[in-house]
Amino acid sequence: MAESFNPAALAEDKAARYRQLGLEIASVLEGEPDRVARMATVSSMLRQAFDSFFWVGFYVVDPAKGDELVVGPYQGTLGCLRIAFGRGVCGAAARDRRTVIVEDVELFPGHIACDSRSRSEIVVPVLDPAGALIAVLDVDAVTPAAFDAQDAAGLEAILKAAFAG
Ligand code: SME
Repeated sequence: MAESFNPAALAEDKAARYRQLGLEIASVLEGEPDRVARMATVSSMLRQAFDSFFWVGFYVVDPAKGDELVVGPYQGTLGCLRIAFGRGVCGAAARDRRTVIVEDVELFPGHIACDSRSRSEIVVPVLDPAGALIAVLDVDAVTPAAFDAQDAAGLEAILKAAFAG
């Protein structure tokens, strides 16, 4: 019997995948305090879990500057090294401390094209247990409008558990 298209079921499936992945990440990270090791692990496990994640990784707040991000652990093609707060999608998310979803990067003013194949992206702030911004997580896809509120909620929950717990 042919199955009918059911967007609600797809959404639930994605939410369930994020929940499952969150459990797996928590289990791998247990007992490891090093932040670089944790970021590297989260990048790798996200990249492996979602085929649509063309580039996934962290831009970390440079403590020497305070208002500049420097590239951290990532999976994907070469990323630019530094992004000032307010520049591009990552800089906007860092400055405003909020998740930014961009359906078409060509329509985002100041978007930084590290790889011209990226068409849409989501950037999520990463906070420490005291609520200070330590990084942003940047995920890029080669298809337009690849990310939605389910991705925002799923990624925010994983990052909260991994870095703010
Ligand atoms: N797209 C980002 C830049 C980082 S790379 O794509 C890896 C931005 O505009 O913030």
